[in-house]
Amino acid sequence: MNELSPEARIIQSFLEAGDAYISGNDLALKLDISRVGVWNRLEKLKVSGFHFSAIRNRGYRLKSLPHRFHPSLFEAILHNKGTGLPFHFHEVVDSTNSEAERLISNGESTPFLVLADSQQSGRGRRGRYWHSPPHKNLYMSFVFRPQLPPARMQTITLWFGYVICRYFIDTWSLPVKIKWPNDIICHEKKLAGLLAEARIDSELTRDLIFGIGLNGNIDPHDLPESIASMATSLAIASGKSVSLTHLAADLTNVVLNAYQQFIDGQYEEPFLEGWPSVDFLQGKEIKTDQGSGIARGISRNGSLKVRTQSGTLHLQAGEISLSSNYFTTPQSNTNPQSQSKK
Ligand code: BTN
Repeated sequence: MNELSPEARIIQSFLEAGDAYISGNDLALKLDISRVGVWNRLEKLKVSGFHFSAIRNRGYRLKSLPHRFHPSLFEAILHNKGTGLPFHFHEVVDSTNSEAERLISNGESTPFLVLADSQQSGRGRRGRYWHSPPHKNLYMSFVFRPQLPPARMQTITLWFGYVICRYFIDTWSLPVKIKWPNDIICHEKKLAGLLAEARIDSELTRDLIFGIGLNGNIDPHDLPESIASMATSLAIASGKSVSLTHLAADLTNVVLNAYQQFIDGQYEEPFLEGWPSVDFLQGKEIKTDQGSGIARGISRNGSLKVRTQSGTLHLQAGEISLSSNYFTTPQSNTNPQSQSKK
């Protein structure tokens, strides 16, 4: 596992100490830095939203953590969970998926993760734009090198979507579902979007970039008007402001475990059996390019089954829209929160 940075080690010491005080001297000895060095780092942490209480002769106690994403806190949490995933964090980036692509081209070894506080050209599916304002949401791209034939990769995004829904159901007690193939929905509104991009050569999937954009603490009214009414956030759905760093660490574990299960070929049974519990479209009337019908779950290869009057359609990841007015903007954009860039 990677060595922790000094800042992450300070945070880790406070996380371990819980409600107890730690003296500046002990911290300095532990980290092998001066007491002034400790003080400077604590001041820097305070600026980024950590709160400490200090008592003379006893030292410091961690009172609260920032709700914004904090890279050193993330490092400490991953370390405590035993997750040794290298990551790159940017305050601002064009798109974490694009940055992941550049890192792959520069020979970065996989797996790794790219996170950003904001994106200037966040990408959604089908060339749409993903609004990515700072401080409130998560923008994460995981990179893997699966070396599997593309045919075996067809279901991986759905599987990731499934485990992410299960995480919100099991850990947050929220009724989170997936609108095939990539919208994560809560209370009928979009909570997150998934964007998987793969590079295939010589019949093998060389690289897989799996991007998640998740509305964490944003008030959807702060999103452009055209999508505000169709979006939600974890804070709105759960009724409390959330720690984006803990959330990112949880999602990292969820995705890494799911990837391993997928590669080991141990996902199909839980996936196919569990899918109905997260299937947003099940039983809904939908329109497709090939006519209207009722969504009837997915098949083994991840295609959406739609029962029409003339038989059952098996849709690959194409565009569908619901016959009711869920997610229908004036432009008939079926993908709230990802819009065509004007
Ligand atoms: C969609 O619903 O259309 C998918 C949206 C995916 C957005 C995420 S944010 C992190 C990663 N970087 C991007 O540019 N896009 C994905």
